Amino acid sequence: MTILHARPGVGQLVTVQTVAALRAEVAEWRAAGATVGLVPTMGALHAGHMALIERARADCDRVVASIFINPIQFNEAADLETYPRDAAADAARLAEAGVDLLFAPAVEEMYPEGFATSVSVARLTDCLCGLARPGHLDGVATVVAKLFTQAQADLAYFGEKDYQQFLVVQRMAEDLDIPVRVVAVLTVREADGLALSSRNQCLTPEQRRIAPALFGTLTALAERFVAGAAAGIELARGREALFHAGFDRIDYLELRHGETLAPLERAESAARLFAAVWLGDTRLIDNIAVA
Ligand code: PAJ
Repeated sequence: MTILHARPGVGQLVTVQTVAALRAEVAEWRAAGATVGLVPTMGALHAGHMALIERARADCDRVVASIFINPIQFNEAADLETYPRDAAADAARLAEAGVDLLFAPAVEEMYPEGFATSVSVARLTDCLCGLARPGHLDGVATVVAKLFTQAQADLAYFGEKDYQQFLVVQRMAEDLDIPVRVVAVLTVREADGLALSSRNQCLTPEQRRIAPALFGTLTALAERFVAGAAAGIELARGREALFHAGFDRIDYLELRHGETLAPLERAESAARLFAAVWLGDTRLIDNIAVA
C-alpha cells in the first residue's frame, strides 16, 4: 500500500484494497482538515457515475470512489457472473477525473468468514424494486452501511437513476447515526433519453432501439399527470404503450410520493413515476419527477 503525503496530480490514482489502508489514508486527510466525499459504485463506469464524481470533486477537498461488485445485492448468480467488469478502463477514468483514492476491496475483505449481519430498512423497501428483487435493497443497505463506516466521508453521492436506493441509503444513514450527508445527483441520459446504465451494454442493437421508449413513456405519462389525470387509467395506458414499444415484461410502472414512496392516485407535490421493465434478459429501471 502506498500513502502519498501530497495530493496526487491528475492522472495518478492511489488504489487500496483493504479497509485498514482506506482508513489510514482518510484519517490523514481528516486530520489535515479536509472534507471527504465518497462515491460508491460497482464499476463499468460511464458518464452517470462520472457526474457523481464531478459533483463530489466540486463539493469536497478529497474524493474516494469505491468499486465493489456486491454479491449480496444480486438475486441471481448468472446476473452477478455476467455483470460488466472493466477495471483498467475504470481506473483510467477515475484518474482522469481527479479522484484521490480508489477503494477496490475483494469479496473476502468485505465479507470475511463468519460475516453475519444484514442491514434492512423497513417500509421504503416494501414496494418497487423491494418487491421485484427480494433482498436486493437489504444487500445494498448492508454494503453501503459498511462503506460509510469504512470511509468516514462527510458527503456521499448517489444517482437519482436508482431513486429508491437513494431513499433507502439516506434513511439507513440517518437511522444508524452515521454522520454522512447523502446527496442525490440528477440522472444522466443518452441523447435519446435512455438513462445511462452499466447494463445498457448488454442490449442487442434491436433492444437498444426500443430502450429509449421507457423514458418516452414516462415523460408522456408525466404530462398527463400534470394535467390532472388519474393514476389507474393512465398507468394502464402506459403499460400498453410499453408493451407496444417492444418491452418483454414490466416489473412495475407506478406513481408514488418521492419521499415516502406512498402510492398516489393523482400527482401531487413530490410525485414521481417509477418503472422497471425487461428487454430479453436485461432489466432497465428509470424514474422521473412529475413536476
Ligand atoms: P452502480 O450501479 O455502479 O451505480 C453507482 C452509482 O451511480 C449509484 O448511485 C447510481 O444511482 C449512480 N448512477 C448509475 N447510473 C446513473 C445515471 N445514468 N445517472 C446518474 N447516476 C447514475 O448503484 C450501485 O452501483 C450499487 O447498488 C451501490 C450503491 C454501489 C452499492 O453496491
